[in-house]
Amino acid sequence: MSELQVLEKTLLAQVRSASSLAEIEEARVSILGKKGKLTGELKKLGTMDPDKRREYGQGVNKLKALLQEALDSQGAILKRAELEVRLSEERVDVSQPARPRLTGKIHPITQTIDEIVAIFGEMGFNWADGPEIETDWYNFTAMNMPADHAARQMQDTFYMAGHSGDEGSLVLRTHTSPVQARTMLTQEPPIRVIAPGRTFRSDYDATHTPMFHQVEGLVIDEISTMAHLKGVLEDFLKAFFGLDEVKLRLRPSYFPFTEPSAEVDIQCDRSGGQLKLGEGSDWLEILGSGMVHPKVLENCNIDSNKYQGFAFGMGIERLAMLKYGIPDLRTFFDGDQNWIQHYGFDPLDRPNVVTGL
Ligand code: DAH
Repeated sequence: MSELQVLEKTLLAQVRSASSLAEIEEARVSILGKKGKLTGELKKLGTMDPDKRREYGQGVNKLKALLQEALDSQGAILKRAELEVRLSEERVDVSQPARPRLTGKIHPITQTIDEIVAIFGEMGFNWADGPEIETDWYNFTAMNMPADHAARQMQDTFYMAGHSGDEGSLVLRTHTSPVQARTMLTQEPPIRVIAPGRTFRSDYDATHTPMFHQVEGLVIDEISTMAHLKGVLEDFLKAFFGLDEVKLRLRPSYFPFTEPSAEVDIQCDRSGGQLKLGEGSDWLEILGSGMVHPKVLENCNIDSNKYQGFAFGMGIERLAMLKYGIPDLRTFFDGDQNWIQHYGFDPLDRPNVVTGL
């Protein structure tokens, strides 16, 4: 076998054993590149005598063409194979179930808070807030419930570790009423605020969860009365439930922080096993309210001879359940995807009084 025949055999074997496009490229460089084996052969021509040079030159050129072709065809085979692999690996299986829409929804509690804020905002109320971990003083004492007050037992309080009973001791706020005190101590009358937020009580059954939401309302000026309270609540409930007319009933009640105190019932109809608000001759209790107690005003450095006003507190879950027909309180906090997809709201459709609620 001639020298060139041996070279042909080894180089062809090298090309054909390439198993990827990268290896083909390597082979191309090692054979035909500047420092390649065949290029090396061509360089030898310069030292040969003319006859041999012609013959050898033709041989090397033929071999070069042969290897070129071998590299191309092996490259084409590998390219097709690699495409085949990609096609099978990247195939879309159209028989798979569609991926669920991962669009988030607005929780009904958030929606309800936004609606409440929109309605009261339109009436000239400002938004107010306070901490969920509250001091004993703000949660109880300021609200006319001193340490030995019986009303403290009405609420099953979560006490923070180290609670000693003195004014700075911490509790999880049992109601949003402490925001009344925080607002009165930092703002001058006239005050008109609405304070929605989380509240906590150690209670768990079909109608109670340890965390729930309330919204507090507070109006302090020189003239506001129970009549204004009733008017504000009537306007709110009409807007919130989308009613043309609604009757309210103020029932005498007791709260330590208001005098007089009233529970407010909304007119409803329960006939046919269905609850309809704003019609009929039945009543449904929805909130607590009253004229802010002079002691609460004094606790918050407001002159009770000059200023007066009303306050109210409502449960937000209750309002949401009534408006949106959600039957079970505990489902609000289960974190169930199906529930939120069903009862949740479009994040791009935020409530405002102009386009309707
Ligand atoms: N804080 C009361 C509760 O949690 C609700 C309440 C009643 C708030 C009367 C008020 C009010 O502002 O005037 O049960």
